[in-house]
Amino acid sequence: MYNTKQITNDLYWVGANDRRISLFEGVYDVPLGVSYNSYIIMDDKTVLLDTVDKAVAHQFFENIAHVLNGRKLDYLVINHMEPDHCAEIENLVAKYPDVKIVCNAKTQSMISQFFDFEFPQEQYVIVKEGDTLETGNHTLSFFMAPMVHWPEVMVTYDQTDKILFSADAFGSFGAIDGNIFADEVDFEHRYMDEARRYYTNIVGKYGPQTQALLKKAQGLDIEMICPLHGYVWRKDLEVFIDKYQKWSTYEPEIKSVLIPYTSVYGNTQNAAEILAGELAKLGVKDIKMYDASVTHPSYIVSDAFKYSHIVFATTTYNMGIFVNMENLLHDMTAHNIQNRKIAVIENGSWAITAGNLITEIVSKWKNTEIIGSKVTIKSSAKQSQREELEELAKEIAKTI
Ligand code: FEO
Repeated sequence: MYNTKQITNDLYWVGANDRRISLFEGVYDVPLGVSYNSYIIMDDKTVLLDTVDKAVAHQFFENIAHVLNGRKLDYLVINHMEPDHCAEIENLVAKYPDVKIVCNAKTQSMISQFFDFEFPQEQYVIVKEGDTLETGNHTLSFFMAPMVHWPEVMVTYDQTDKILFSADAFGSFGAIDGNIFADEVDFEHRYMDEARRYYTNIVGKYGPQTQALLKKAQGLDIEMICPLHGYVWRKDLEVFIDKYQKWSTYEPEIKSVLIPYTSVYGNTQNAAEILAGELAKLGVKDIKMYDASVTHPSYIVSDAFKYSHIVFATTTYNMGIFVNMENLLHDMTAHNIQNRKIAVIENGSWAITAGNLITEIVSKWKNTEIIGSKVTIKSSAKQSQREELEELAKEIAKTI
């Protein structure tokens, strides 16, 4: 049975939710599920904006048929070719063979990379930066947004209703639970962490490209944002845009300390906990600790974008950095983490190498400073290390 949502008098959400997905993109757990958003504008011409993931195809096609209510589908606009949005292009074209595909040249070549179906060239409408499409009452214009999150990405702006169809930008993990608008839910408490985890892990590497898109968006009069995942924004857009501004410039949201640690027998954890306690005594608020062997890196990467300071505490293992910490550091580097203050606690029972190896990695991060002296634990912390940890806490607190 169809499950559609009306957004304006002639704009409908025809997407679907997946709460059983085990790993989004084969990497990220999504405890709140995920929505695949697709929209139809019912103008003189009918326009579908993007398709959905194959997991929700059945619901999607029921939704389209319901909204079209016997009308033909005139246009499919493809803003993004990642299969969580493009998977149903071939099936859509099979059901609506007269549809015209509106996309840019990069997208057209990606269609032939992902699919084998024949589609007449004359049914393609290839658009470039700033091109427009008149559909009756609506005028749609297209703006390229390369690497937010793939090279072919574009966004579509409805000049008539001042709506930005923003592709992956301004999306969030989390299914749409009945409501469709972000202002109808407690977004700050229920979804903001997942929105951050979504942006930072999916698009976080491409801060400068996201900045370029934000600058283009500043030139548009936007009253509503319709992303490809999560809720639609029609109020307080500046709240979410401000988050994007910070995330895409790697500016911390809060001045506090994130402490990811790994600990084979608990002694490195003990040192990390002592440091955290000393920081608290010095007045640092909202300190956050993670056992990086327990928590998926995507959560820690997300908080690394939020916190101003990061203390890595880990063990030497196989003459290197303990594997889960090494993986986390690799992930943070890959996501372009920068503009942070870093401190290091290392442990080992012989031939301790982890601290220097971490320093080597983080010293390549842009605008990143190592503060305080590295604390070295030999097997377990003793009184002298407690003093070093107290000293490190003071050095960190001074910069907060
Ligand atoms: Fe939701 Fe980059 O796809």
